[in-house]
Amino acid sequence: MAPMGTDELSFPEAFWKGHTGLRRQGPGSDRSTKIALSMVDLPGKEAEILDIGCGPGAQTVFLAAETGGRVTAVDLFARFLEEVRERAGELGVADRVSTVRADMGSLPFDDKSFDLVWSEGAIYIMGFQSGLSAWKRFVKPGGYVAVTEITWLVDDPSDDASLFWKEAYPGMGTFAENCAAAREAGYQLVGTYTLPREDWWTDYYRPLSNRLTSLLPSYPPDSESGVGLREELKEIEIHRLHGNEYSYIFYVLRRPE
Ligand SMILES: C[S@@+](CC[C@H](N)C(=O)[O-])C[C@H]1O[C@@H](n2cnc3c(N)ncnc32)[C@H](O)[C@@H]1O
Repeated sequence: MAPMGTDELSFPEAFWKGHTGLRRQGPGSDRSTKIALSMVDLPGKEAEILDIGCGPGAQTVFLAAETGGRVTAVDLFARFLEEVRERAGELGVADRVSTVRADMGSLPFDDKSFDLVWSEGAIYIMGFQSGLSAWKRFVKPGGYVAVTEITWLVDDPSDDASLFWKEAYPGMGTFAENCAAAREAGYQLVGTYTLPREDWWTDYYRPLSNRLTSLLPSYPPDSESGVGLREELKEIEIHRLHGNEYSYIFYVLRRPE
């Protein structure tokens, strides 16, 4: 989970050295994106899809390729949007992928303009229920929202995991709480899917931890970068030890007609 901030300079140098150029900036995989996508019904090539907090765009280009529709990819950081455009070009979907630099809390789109609002590993920035409530207006009636949200899988997590996440993401809920929050925000629950452990490691934690470990000797332990690197490595270690206690879950939701 990336730290939060509103401009690139609010992140220490080592953060960008660790993260730039990774295929994904959070847990996920094409396989899981495909499973969630199979739960929604889209109007083929006419589909308008919004991908919020797209990062480097692995899921953006996959959505464009799989659906044949148009995907608008939004992120706060220009460097990620450049990576999205590059990836879209490589995959031959650049004509159906557009990028918009914007804050997910104040999106510059008309109401009811998307058949599907997608967001992997990013709604935590607003908070699950706040994000769902804020984004609903952009969905056409009868359209869908599919988001992944980090979720407790057990009622009695270990002290290590619960202390870490209480600090890192105090809003992290259980499956039942998130289903209730989605209904409260005015959606019907279409389906859910729990990301498997390999989705955390293959394209995210494994390449990231290799980079963070090699960056560590370059920064004094008490510098902002040194502290940030150790905090990210701690998150990865907590998952290695306790990854059976929580995961990202895809919540696939529908805005009623
Ligand atoms: C954990 S990453 C997930 C990225 C991508 N969806 C993926 O799974 O690879 C969260 C993304 O949200 C973006 N982000 C952070 N704050 C944001 C904001 N206020 N508005 C829009 N995007 C934001 C970050 O730049 C980052 O790309």
